[in-house]
Amino acid sequence: MIIFIIVSRDIVLKQLSVSLDPRSWQSCADSGQLTVFSAVLGSLQFGYSLGVINAPQKVIEQHYGRSLGVLPEEPLLLSENSTETEKQEVHPSVVMYWSLSVSIFSIGGMVSSFLVGFIGDLRGRVKGMLMVNVLAVIAGLLMVMAKMWKPHVMVIAGRCVMGFYCGLSSGLVPMYIGEIAPMAYRGALGTLHQLATVTGILLSQVLGLEFLLGNDYYWPLLLGLSGAPAVLQSLLLPLCPESPRYLYIKRGMVEEAKKSLHRLKGQYDPSADLEEMRREKEEVEKEAQVSIAVLVRSSLYRQQLFVALMMHFSQQLSGINAIFYYSTAIFEKAGVTQPVYATIGVGVLNTVFTMVSVALVDRAGRRTLTLIGLGGMCICAVSMTVGLVYLSKTMSMSAIFLFVCFFEIGPGPIPWFIVAELFSQGPRPAALALAGCTNWTSNFIIGMTFPYIEALCGSYVFILFAVLLFGFTVFTYLRVPETKGKTFEEIAAVFKKGRKQTPGTRKTGTGTGTGTSTELEQLKTD
Ligand code: GLC
Repeated sequence: MIIFIIVSRDIVLKQLSVSLDPRSWQSCADSGQLTVFSAVLGSLQFGYSLGVINAPQKVIEQHYGRSLGVLPEEPLLLSENSTETEKQEVHPSVVMYWSLSVSIFSIGGMVSSFLVGFIGDLRGRVKGMLMVNVLAVIAGLLMVMAKMWKPHVMVIAGRCVMGFYCGLSSGLVPMYIGEIAPMAYRGALGTLHQLATVTGILLSQVLGLEFLLGNDYYWPLLLGLSGAPAVLQSLLLPLCPESPRYLYIKRGMVEEAKKSLHRLKGQYDPSADLEEMRREKEEVEKEAQVSIAVLVRSSLYRQQLFVALMMHFSQQLSGINAIFYYSTAIFEKAGVTQPVYATIGVGVLNTVFTMVSVALVDRAGRRTLTLIGLGGMCICAVSMTVGLVYLSKTMSMSAIFLFVCFFEIGPGPIPWFIVAELFSQGPRPAALALAGCTNWTSNFIIGMTFPYIEALCGSYVFILFAVLLFGFTVFTYLRVPETKGKTFEEIAAVFKKGRKQTPGTRKTGTGTGTGTSTELEQLKTD
């Protein structure tokens, strides 16, 4: 948490104070800093909830067992001298309720990610984030009170509501940051969503240590704390300006948009920004309202959508969460004596390399970092397999650590913010909803199926991910365009160029825009 505050403070300060016109940015650093910090508290919560369920598994299972009546009332003291059978035997109903506690989180996220666009457009991005915090607080309370009633019911209910909240916040936060970030720092600021997420994961891993909160007494507090950032965020969000793009393009509130720009950037001449928004609004008006159904059916956005969804598939099907959900078991298999600490090591590297990505993403570019990341992960997956098969502890451990580093360089953070870059204001909310749902669904599938695939493939399980990663690397090389340093219009124009022009198509837009009269007709009839 401390690392996250210091780093985000420094990065945001640097990114917002060093710009094309340094004087204009310097004065607004505080406002921009607070705004981004407040927004990514939602991402911190997402990360915390992703990581928190691992460490206290054994103690919580005992509580489930007692409340289900399949274990004696007195806690089982599993000491060094306990037999392996005593340590490992878990009643099938406990296993079932435990799996449900883990996976219901992703189900909540899958469902709610569809509502991101609706909530974001309803009263604005800031009010949207504020509203959904109610869910996080309810979820936190349910879990903190888990011991007061049936723990398995309370935890499952809490995780479900929390998943629902996280599905919304993991869409709303990148949407808001993508819209308020100045072009030159869109990547770095977008990556802060992931930096906050990984800080949340690390925080949950550390607090989950047995001598802190991961024990028989404090586990409800450990789980319930996942609602705490929402309380802080609710106090801070009212101080944050609404997205100027939302105000101008969606609501036509030019004066309000101008005020927001001033609050974000200080006193400067906003005419260039306003002009850019005016052009985008013009294009949006030609584009008509793009719902999820229209987006799926329309050939106009097919390429962007394909790229966006593939990037989310590549993030999840890379196998990263096989490491995050099952790292302790994987480390045990590799012969590590203190797997919990190795897992925390993964969390630390994860955080450090996300910071590397924050520093590089606006210089090296999204495409280059994604390519390096996916390619590196592919090699690591092969090395991990060799290490596991030949029982080389050093090789498998190094491969796991490097796998995570490569993930955070590009494939981890980039998909979360690139979707907002690939689409203009019209289809953006629907695209974010679909991308979020793809992410949550593939996350759920990996979480549920990995133990079975591992049982089937044994030490060769990561070969499967290596093959997928190779495919995703080739795809990125062939199909993913660079979005660094381009306006939303220019990005849309890249895809437009790639689309086959229907003979007779005549441009009626500004020449740099996204819509033509033929395309508009096409969208309407699609
Ligand atoms: C990304 C993924 C998430 C994963 C995390 C690991 O945020 O979306 O599923 O657990 O990275 O750092």
